[in-house]
Amino acid sequence: MTSLAISASRILLIIGGGVAAYKSLELIRRLRERGANVRVVMTAAAQQFVSPLSAAALSGAAVRDDLFSLVDEAEMGHIELSRSADLIVVAPATADLLARMAQGLANDLASTTLLATDKRVLVAPAMNVRMWLHPATQRNVGTLRGDGVAFVGPDDGEMACGEFGPGRMAEPLAIVAAIERQLLQPTVIPLPDGPPLRGPLSDRHVVVTAGPTFEPIDPVRFIGNRSSGRQGFALAEAAVGAGARVTLISGPVALLDPPGALVVRVETAKQMLDAALAAMPADVFIAAAAVADWRVEAVSDQKLKKGARGAPSLSLVENPDILGRIAATSAARPRLVAGFAAETENVIENAKRKLSRKGCDLIVANSVAEGSGVFGGAENEVHIVTASGVSSWPRMSKPEIAYKLIELFATRLRSVQ
Ligand code: CTP
Repeated sequence: MTSLAISASRILLIIGGGVAAYKSLELIRRLRERGANVRVVMTAAAQQFVSPLSAAALSGAAVRDDLFSLVDEAEMGHIELSRSADLIVVAPATADLLARMAQGLANDLASTTLLATDKRVLVAPAMNVRMWLHPATQRNVGTLRGDGVAFVGPDDGEMACGEFGPGRMAEPLAIVAAIERQLLQPTVIPLPDGPPLRGPLSDRHVVVTAGPTFEPIDPVRFIGNRSSGRQGFALAEAAVGAGARVTLISGPVALLDPPGALVVRVETAKQMLDAALAAMPADVFIAAAAVADWRVEAVSDQKLKKGARGAPSLSLVENPDILGRIAATSAARPRLVAGFAAETENVIENAKRKLSRKGCDLIVANSVAEGSGVFGGAENEVHIVTASGVSSWPRMSKPEIAYKLIELFATRLRSVQ
């Protein structure tokens, strides 16, 4: 399966001092061609193997190597450096670097960044087979796994030192695949003020879909849309505020996780459906995602190339209707199933038809006609369509709409007890 999780992700790559460091240059290329933003930190030892200039040229950004650089710290301090990434990747991770990580040492920029981060860390170890198998290294690996650090490799094989066994750094494409898996892991950022809030949705489970879906054409191209995910994220935030346990299933968006919600990042409609079904049972299901209606039938494993045969023709198949599927579940259907209808004409009529076609309880209808500024914008003007009628709300910000919708859902849930 071709994954697009890496596009627009922010990866902080820490290059340790090992022969395998040259493969990290290849890793930078692979990440960049998939649309990732890559920043590089190199240890002093790493610079004996590859030049910071090569890493800077490939990543398109200056390489950081000095904890005490006044210039670098003035531009972006090491704490910010460690937090502004979605994922920290250490490749190659030497025995020495693993030991310092396991001990919590902070005696250079790489180790300080690793100690200061609140983000996931993925390491790709590379060292001599005896060093890898040494009880001290294995102890450190155990400690790091216990701390939640993820590993990719090492692989078995012939090593630069002539010995054979585990210790070779994983190949760049295997590291890319491990990075994709890490970026798609569900996360919960704790609420700043500690325990969950109490409110009208306490003890309720609310599941929200948000953002676009990206349907791959090949490893670098996709069919998508301009949904920003703002309305869905605002709903998730408002539901957390109302005391609910919230699962937010989001397509690729450039928004920060709302604290307190379990955020499941997906890319395709199929993955979004699987995540929604896995999140059940729920009391409320809100489909705010702009799901792509079609996907490419046969996704190419390799980047499609221009050639004598001209433009490729793509055969499309229809995606599953996530809202329709959840509304149609007979066992444990959420008590309230709400969808959105983004229409360019006949807004109310189309929304009424959608309400009955999808079998949901409520449709939030809005116009996305040219000039409405809704898609990707900060405001919206909605009509609440139910079997019993239509209520039109004045234009408001998306967070305000979210807050009022959550209030409405809580009221309706109480009345269908
Ligand atoms: N939806 C969904 N799964 C799909 C398509 C849409 O869950 N495969 C949900 C959306 O999240 C939204 C609602 O269905 O809540 C309506 O989406 P919209 O794109 O307006 O409707 P479509 O089903 O695509 O219908 P049409 O193409 O006729 O507008």
